[in-house]
Amino acid sequence: MAIVSKSSHQTDITRYFHDFDCRQHIFGARQPLLTGLTAANSRHPSSAQFQKEKTLSKLWILSDLHLESIPYPGAFSPARPDFDVLVAAGDIWQSDIKRGLGFLTRLADGKPVVFVMVNHEYWRGNLGTELQKARDLAGKAGIILLENEAVTLAGCHFVGATLWTDYELAGDLADKENPTGELISVSDEKSSRPFTIADCAATHSVTRKYLTAEILGHDSTVPLVVVTHHAPHLDCLPQHVRGTWAAGNCASDLSELTDSGKAALWINGHIHESSCIHRPGGTRIICNPAGTRFSNSRFDEALVVEV
Ligand SMILES: [Fe+2]
Ligand SMILES: [Fe+2]
Repeated sequence: MAIVSKSSHQTDITRYFHDFDCRQHIFGARQPLLTGLTAANSRHPSSAQFQKEKTLSKLWILSDLHLESIPYPGAFSPARPDFDVLVAAGDIWQSDIKRGLGFLTRLADGKPVVFVMVNHEYWRGNLGTELQKARDLAGKAGIILLENEAVTLAGCHFVGATLWTDYELAGDLADKENPTGELISVSDEKSSRPFTIADCAATHSVTRKYLTAEILGHDSTVPLVVVTHHAPHLDCLPQHVRGTWAAGNCASDLSELTDSGKAALWINGHIHESSCIHRPGGTRIICNPAGTRFSNSRFDEALVVEV
């Protein structure tokens, strides 16, 4: 696995927001730049084996564009890198899945898109209703929406889901009966109510079981790529977030999966800082978010990783 293109330039709108008033880093101090990706190949046996057998797949990775937060979303029109699959790990356009999927369709320009629904796609909506709406729209657009689902495409096996979190990393700071604070509702047979931390943990549990079976059961030579919005490991979090309520909102400890060595690559979003983590089994966890109003100055709009 290697970075094959890392943009040396940015579109005007990316540069504009980096240069002026939009450094609203929700987690403050920044992580080191994406480094060491090339070394991942040699340290991942299945990936190295795969390289000898066939051409690597080029994945264009991005997340958290939050196009609802900029005055002229159409101005974000990056030059397309050389890629096989666009992987969008969510938070593309808050509360407007139609525009979000339309944007991704234009961005990919006929190439495949793998996408996961996430908290801001559900924003001001109902968990079940919005997912079905997104499935319908994605189906019409030819976008591959993964929610506890998998697809083999362009020489990779993609497994995807929102993931949510179990809030365990927040410790006693998260009361399971409280709403998550996100403007999302859930429905039972009689009414709808705010999405609570308990709802979030229950939804996470379903995905966790699914991912466990898919990842630990993966025995193909086709590289496994996991796509989730929420982060799968404590190490994905900036230091000062750890032990806070935000830690529980952003990540869960899925180290039994991230350290199993089964996945070549795990892509996440939600945390508005770039990160690249190498787990002991060889799995790389990469996050390449733009952030609200393009707050992440290390966002690489042309980040392509080979798997
Ligand atoms: Fe986000
Ligand atoms: Fe998010």
